[in-house]
Amino acid sequence: MAEAFRADVLEGLGQVKKAVPARWLYDDAGSALFEEITRLPEYYATRAETEVLENRGGEFARLIGAGRAVVEFGSGSSVKTPLLLRAIDPAAYVPLDIAGDFLREAAAELQAKFPALPVYPVEADFMRQVDLPGAIHPMRKLGFFPGSTIGNMVPRTAADLLREMKETLQEGWGGNAEDAPLLLIGMDLVKDPVVLEAAYDDAAGVTARFNLNLATRINRELGGDIPLDDLTHRAIWNDAFARIEMHLQATRDIDFTVAGNRFTMRAGETIHTENSHKFTRRSANLLLLAGGWTPQARWLDSEERFSVILARGSEFRNAP
Ligand code: TRP
Repeated sequence: MAEAFRADVLEGLGQVKKAVPARWLYDDAGSALFEEITRLPEYYATRAETEVLENRGGEFARLIGAGRAVVEFGSGSSVKTPLLLRAIDPAAYVPLDIAGDFLREAAAELQAKFPALPVYPVEADFMRQVDLPGAIHPMRKLGFFPGSTIGNMVPRTAADLLREMKETLQEGWGGNAEDAPLLLIGMDLVKDPVVLEAAYDDAAGVTARFNLNLATRINRELGGDIPLDDLTHRAIWNDAFARIEMHLQATRDIDFTVAGNRFTMRAGETIHTENSHKFTRRSANLLLLAGGWTPQARWLDSEERFSVILARGSEFRNAP
């Protein structure tokens, strides 16, 4: 872990366009700040998605049916999960996460809420195909991937992940259409850039602290001396790629050391720390199709800010 962090940071800061993989934003402090972000007035996404999950249970039940094993990718604190589980009467729940302690804690909490439901937490990196517990193989599966986390990946990586998810979920599938794996996925929508930039640069400065925590972490864990007071949080709408970009921008020329390596930044230069892609109905459908999933149904919150899509594992490559 420490070695991978070091390697990623040194490689990322050495590039012409400095960038550090977003996963390193989530240490304990980062994860706590992220929970705070989900409650900010400007950050509409969590509330909008929760509204859909609360109100559409009847339709989920009808389209998904009872008796599926729900496999949640990157389950984290599993706060949205009870809304889905209550609606569809599943056969089992399989939370997948790389943070093992967090995972087992959340799984125990969920088990207490659903005493009769078999819960099988699996500590795994969901970016690769995951071997589900044997007891799950014969069951029909529903993947659950809320939070528009798919939007934090560039399209190529997102399509790779969707294909890995399909591989994971079709384990034990006999091949008949009714038993094909399903996926319920949250995808945030393109909207006014003013609204989007505010959602990723809140007035209270929580998202700024979340972003700057990366530099704090580099200094602490990699013996760095990045001058934190000379970096500021930036959230920028990139229209061509339909994404919000988070950057740490130098306010003056600076130089610093990380793990014995010297780096310089000119005033205005940035370190790119995260992307959050936003979707239209068509771009969402295109991404799902590219990843091997055929969209079946789509729901929006009352203010039409966020979409939740149900897709079915595609059986064929649509000819020609
Ligand atoms: N996937 C969500 C989004 O992109 C949540 C999220 C991930 C987020 N990283 C973030 C929100 C950084 C704010 C800042 O919106």
